[in-house]
Amino acid sequence: TLSQDTYLINGELKKWNGDKADVFSTISSTEEYKPTLLGSVPNLSENEALEALNAASNAYARGQGLWPTMKVEGRIAAMEKFVAQMKTKREEIVKLLMWEIGKSLPDSEKEFDRTIEYIYDTIEDYKQMDRDSAKFEKNSGVHAHIRRGPLGVVLCLGPYNYPLNETFALLIPALIMGNTTVFKPAKHGVLLLTPLLEAFQTSFPAGVVNIIYGRGRTLVTPIMKTGLVDVLALIGNSKSANAIQANHPQKNRLRLILGLEAKNPGIVLPEADLDLAINECLAGSTSFNGQRCTALKVLYVHEDIVEEFNKRFAERVDALKFGNPWEEGVKLTPLPEPGKPAYIQELIDDATDKGAKVLNDNGGKTSENYIFPAVLYPVSKDSRVFEEEQFGPVIPIVSFKDVQEPIDDMAASNYGQQVSVFGSNVRTLAPLIDTLVNLVCRVNLNSAAQRGPDVYPFTGRKDSAVGTLSVHDALRSFSIRTFVAAKDT
Ligand code: G3H
Repeated sequence: TLSQDTYLINGELKKWNGDKADVFSTISSTEEYKPTLLGSVPNLSENEALEALNAASNAYARGQGLWPTMKVEGRIAAMEKFVAQMKTKREEIVKLLMWEIGKSLPDSEKEFDRTIEYIYDTIEDYKQMDRDSAKFEKNSGVHAHIRRGPLGVVLCLGPYNYPLNETFALLIPALIMGNTTVFKPAKHGVLLLTPLLEAFQTSFPAGVVNIIYGRGRTLVTPIMKTGLVDVLALIGNSKSANAIQANHPQKNRLRLILGLEAKNPGIVLPEADLDLAINECLAGSTSFNGQRCTALKVLYVHEDIVEEFNKRFAERVDALKFGNPWEEGVKLTPLPEPGKPAYIQELIDDATDKGAKVLNDNGGKTSENYIFPAVLYPVSKDSRVFEEEQFGPVIPIVSFKDVQEPIDDMAASNYGQQVSVFGSNVRTLAPLIDTLVNLVCRVNLNSAAQRGPDVYPFTGRKDSAVGTLSVHDALRSFSIRTFVAAKDT
């Protein structure tokens, strides 16, 4: 087990002698099921939370060559130092990803490698942005030196499904743009930051990165109540985002960068290549057990092909291999949230009460830490699984006659991140795509929804997001155009 008793404040790795929280994996290491104790992390109090915030606030306000006003080369050197150290921790972090959140070995390796690439791409984009954006202008007798500056103190809160990659998709751009940060790791995926504490400490000036551990309410509420947080950067759910921002005493002063829920539909048109549509819908709805904001969470299949689609899709889902994350060929793995199987079962029961059938033989079969994906059809639109973001292994299917039906549902939905469309008739597709792209932010043609490649903008409409992430856009989201002006004399 990994007993971690340090936290990072003001450049100091402090030792914690107080109360600690045990970290369990829902993966059993014994034949008879028993959650595995992985280690423990500090349960810090409000005092440490406020100390971390003050450190970030002072590090921002001091300026004069320190982090927020440091030259581009200085910030890049710090980031390069950090990433070089991070690369040496691959094996340890990949192992923790598998145990803490049950991500398969290939996907855990991908999460790590993608994060390294993300940091290097950010450095390159930052250099380019600096070349393009720092410039002199003269208008109406006023000379201006325009540049991009930081926003201030950023509170970073990442999600459990990408505890490394998505947390860093907030933290890295925030840092490189000169902001200072307080960062609290997600509940699941908390230990995997331990191998990086020293790298953070030795790469960045004191107070620039502060890492705290403990209960959200104990730490985050007092931090927000001070009014000293300039940016809330959170990937997670809107319930937490709303509760957290409500604590800020002057809400208009708080900037938000949020990645929230989505209910991305897959729309299979009658002329679609069925093999391709089934492959992509399978990957889109079941990878990492559906625990992705970008997952396909409802499938609309045209009535002419729905019977064949359902038969083949259900067989493919049943053929997916369940097991521990490190086992060869495993696609479905234990769920890190102990309450998740029961929640998914509630959704299945509700949908079947309203007329749906479970199409696959294994659908809904449970073990202590898992429930096998259930393919549900026909799902009535007043079912919970049609409305709620299931974020887990259950796949509702509805049939449609006219493509206007899914369009109307998307227009009425609270979410607007992505859609996948499967078809080949250019005359039908072209106007459809134009309509869909105004309802979401990314239309995937004959492919599953996803966030990557990370250079593309990642955002959503309505309740799905505030602000835009990605290598390129995040640098802009975490900064503001400022300028120094002088009059002609
Ligand atoms: O949970 C939401 C993530 O942004 C999904 O990212 O599409 O790369 O799996 P992904």
